Amino acid sequence: MISIKTLGQFIIEKQADFPYAKGELSRLLRDIGIAAKIVNREVNKAGLVDILGTNGDSINVFGENQKKLDVYADEQFISALKSGGECCFVASEEQEEGVVLTDAGISKNAKYIVCIDPLDGSSNIEVNVSVGTIFSIYRRKSAVGEDITEDDYLQTGLEQVAAGYIIYGSSTMLVYTTGKGVNGFTLDPSIGEFCLSHPNMKIPETGKIYSINEGNYIKFPQGIKNYIKYCQEEDKETYRPYTSRYIGSMVADIHRNLLMGGVFIYPQTAAQPNGKLRLMYECNPISFIIEQAGGKASTGGERILELKPTELHQRVPAIIGSTKMVDKVLEFLN
Ligand code: AHG
Ligand code: MN
Ligand code: MN
Repeated sequence: MISIKTLGQFIIEKQADFPYAKGELSRLLRDIGIAAKIVNREVNKAGLVDILGTNGDSINVFGENQKKLDVYADEQFISALKSGGECCFVASEEQEEGVVLTDAGISKNAKYIVCIDPLDGSSNIEVNVSVGTIFSIYRRKSAVGEDITEDDYLQTGLEQVAAGYIIYGSSTMLVYTTGKGVNGFTLDPSIGEFCLSHPNMKIPETGKIYSINEGNYIKFPQGIKNYIKYCQEEDKETYRPYTSRYIGSMVADIHRNLLMGGVFIYPQTAAQPNGKLRLMYECNPISFIIEQAGGKASTGGERILELKPTELHQRVPAIIGSTKMVDKVLEFLN
């Protein structure tokens, strides 16, 4: 008989890793899993229904066009977190200010903060290419009943209690960590459950894939330009030339590199001195997962997880992936 372990069963089993926990984090993770299934259903239908295209005049805090599914995903996750009652504050890419949930009576005792990119890679929806969701969970520092302050939601990545992503790809997967390794679950649409398919995921120490938007080459720091040339040189011992793979959905690029080995780079450019990707709901959660899988994540100068955030929508340069490949990039930069 085939034995299947669902995400729900796995989360309950793992609660034993936290003997003093009361199951609140488990419930929070379960709520995120449920919202993910709802978003997945809509993402799968994207080519069918009139949900495609931009959402009228709605633009997000960065002045980018918001696609309808960005808005939909944002609403679904926030509403799941609100009704679940374990989350007191959500910081979302799609909301300029964080959303305080403690006013809604149900969340008044909630202890957790969630930072989320509800739909990552949204420009890929219209062309049927993988997109994702990225989330990060912190324990609030203020006491229950007190106001939520910056100390609660601007914590360093090292203080994350859990982080994960969902990839809506050729199959839909949820990958997460609570700081004790990384586990991946594939959605079985026939039973509507995420099933443990990738236990204890480890990123290869090195690989042959580099992922960077080379269209920006001319604006890259010299060290990155030199690294790209290094990737393209022939060398049997290090399996070069490497392969270039860039999807444009961070989740999808990271997921492939996690499985196959590789390095993902979104550097600073002259025009964007902090790069493009956001610390709180893109780089921190992904860095936590990659480090937990044995990889490395750096801005080029510092370990991403050690950065002290100064604002919710802060951007940081990112070099994330197989340890030896990240180290090689750093050699070129320093
Ligand atoms: P989002 O859709 O949430 O705004 O994120 C898009 C991000 C990330 O997923 C991707 O790696 C990167 O932007 C791609 O940017 P470029 O098109 O500049 O390469
Ligand atoms: Mn994103
Ligand atoms: Mn997004």
